[in-house]
Amino acid sequence: MSVIADRCPGIQVTVVDLNQARIDAWNDPDLSKLPVYEPGLDAVVGRCRGRNLHFTTGVDAAIAAADMVFLSVNTPTKTKGVGAGQASDLRWIEASARQVAACAQGHTIVVEKSTLPVRTAETVKAILTAAQGEVAGAGAPKTFSVLSNPEFLAEGTAIPDLEAPDRVLIGGEDAASIDALASVYGQWVPQERILRTNLWSSELSKLTANAFLAQRISSINSIAALCEATGADVNEVAHAIGADTRIGSKFLKAGPGFGGSCFQKDILNLVYLCGHYGLHEVAAYWQSVVELNSWQQHRIAQLVVQKLFGTVTGKRIAVLGFAFKADTNDTREAPAIRICQDLLEEGAQLAIYDPKVPETQIASDLGCQPLPSPVGSPLSGEGVWHRVTTPAEAVAQADAVLILTEWASFADLNWQELAAQMRKPAWLFDARSIADLSAAQAAGLQVWRVGRG
Ligand code: UDX
Repeated sequence: MSVIADRCPGIQVTVVDLNQARIDAWNDPDLSKLPVYEPGLDAVVGRCRGRNLHFTTGVDAAIAAADMVFLSVNTPTKTKGVGAGQASDLRWIEASARQVAACAQGHTIVVEKSTLPVRTAETVKAILTAAQGEVAGAGAPKTFSVLSNPEFLAEGTAIPDLEAPDRVLIGGEDAASIDALASVYGQWVPQERILRTNLWSSELSKLTANAFLAQRISSINSIAALCEATGADVNEVAHAIGADTRIGSKFLKAGPGFGGSCFQKDILNLVYLCGHYGLHEVAAYWQSVVELNSWQQHRIAQLVVQKLFGTVTGKRIAVLGFAFKADTNDTREAPAIRICQDLLEEGAQLAIYDPKVPETQIASDLGCQPLPSPVGSPLSGEGVWHRVTTPAEAVAQADAVLILTEWASFADLNWQELAAQMRKPAWLFDARSIADLSAAQAAGLQVWRVGRG
């Protein structure tokens, strides 16, 4: 919404939320305190806020004044009831639709921005249609039109992704409404990149795009394991296959598995949908993409244990990176969570460093509070963790360093200095292929890198 405000000075954009603390944070004069860390976002908000970008908890008034309402609420995987573990929990989308139905005036275009299971527009439409025709005060009768406009931005590169999108997708039935939304994007996106489809194609395209991207990662991670077993190098294989223009070079980076708020959730959604329509083979096919991802995470944790003489009990391991990818403070479904949990289960003492993820977040993800390594009882069987503020602090007395996020600064760590602080024989496990392995080896470390035989 900030980028829309930035690119369309003639449009007033009001972002509403029920959470006062969150809205206050978006209104904080100190732009470094915005609730989301995203490179370049502070500058965009700084340019537009107060001009044509507003943040408020005045939800009803903002809906009443709007020509177009974007529904951008969360749709997490259901944890209980029918479809638990696969289907999306739509309670917030339904509540938002009801609030729009109640407060809108005149004609309102309602845009689904959240990633939704296919055919959710039907629910939204049913709720809105029930309110159609009512007249609020002296206004015109209420009418609605529903569009699907899924978002394809990736975290960490959100601003450039929005400023120059590969495509914008608008699904709907009413040509005038589609034109209205297309004319918003048309202020900076070339017309040929604005794709128009029916509602269901648009909703399904979003799930499919994420499933295909995630599938590439599981595919390359499966080959990484084979490379390790056979002496090939997955980076070389990725380069070789990526040079084929039919395959392309992006999204072929082997690692600790995909994380983030979308991939797993969207695939599980797809699996649920296929199951619902009796397409069990199709469901199993996509399910295997998620299973391989979990396997890769457990595999890396097991490999660390195995290389450290079969036990990490009481051993100190430096974990570099906790976010699900670089340039974000987001840890949703981060591979670091499962890998750290496995190591804690094995009794390891983890010193975790991430430039952006705070201790409270790590505690909530790991489900246990931080505790410094118990001094003087190195063989205590309890797994413990604490957060440190530099890589140097993380490696002090450690038997191993494990890199789980590809923060750029990890590419130029001074291995001579770090290795000197570690207990020998010491290991570097690079699950992101980012460290300078020859420098680490020259400093006396044993090294393992994902996908290198
Ligand atoms: C993704 C989609 O890219 C985006 O289009 C959609 O709108 C939301 O979901 P995001 O989750 O922000 O975006 O990040 P992305 O860059 O896709 O990375 C997802 C995960 O895959 C990360 O954990 C990343 O480290 C991992 N990844 C990505 C790999 O392991 N290898 C790769 O080659 C690419």
